[in-house]
Amino acid sequence: MASPVVVTHPLAQIHLTAIRQTNTPSAQFRWHLQRLAEILFMEASRSLETAAVRVQTPLAETDGAAFARPIVLVPILRAGLGLQEAILPLVPDATVAHVGIARDEETALPMPYYAKLPSILAEADVFLLDPMLATGGSACAAAAQLKAAGASRITLVCVVSCPTGLEAFGTQHPDVPVVTAAVDERLNDKCYIVPGLGDAGDRCFGT
Ligand code: PRP
Ligand code: URA
Repeated sequence: MASPVVVTHPLAQIHLTAIRQTNTPSAQFRWHLQRLAEILFMEASRSLETAAVRVQTPLAETDGAAFARPIVLVPILRAGLGLQEAILPLVPDATVAHVGIARDEETALPMPYYAKLPSILAEADVFLLDPMLATGGSACAAAAQLKAAGASRITLVCVVSCPTGLEAFGTQHPDVPVVTAAVDERLNDKCYIVPGLGDAGDRCFGT
């Protein structure tokens, strides 16, 4: 199984608790999900390379930092949008690419239906965003699409993962680090994460 970075910061765990709670309404679900996304992104972006720049303060010239490469955020539609909304303000110059993948409700297999990828993937630091890593099928398919389009520096940010998804993702994409707030126990017979938080897209968008 891939070894994810599990963010155990108390604030992350407080927000995770709120979105697990079954009676949390969509507005609060989105708010806590977004706060959690900010914390996860702080960890996921920890090893971003920066380039030295000089900056002029009102008093003197001094050393500063700039991102070494362009940043691309890739939410997996739909639920990944809940993460992207919170992360984009942290890196407002990032490019946002979209990958649409829906799980087949019977087979749980990923069904890609949309992709809009920028031409800068090969030179970029890419963050793949999806709240749930269940079977791992969606994240594996999305990472494969990104690599086929040239990406080589990808980090997966997910809120809740589980051993099955981490195993599948780590096997197919051993080069892609995973940052998560939880590694849950297992999948149920419908391939939902247990205890998990239910259907992230439905809870985020009230469907
Ligand atoms: C959910 C979730 C992931 C996927 C995880 O999306 O947001 O993309 O399932 O499951 P997996 O690891 O087994 O592939 P879903 O397909 O339900 O689409 P939605 O975001 O539109 O609700
Ligand atoms: N997708 C979700 O939204 N939740 C799960 O538990 C599994 C897949």
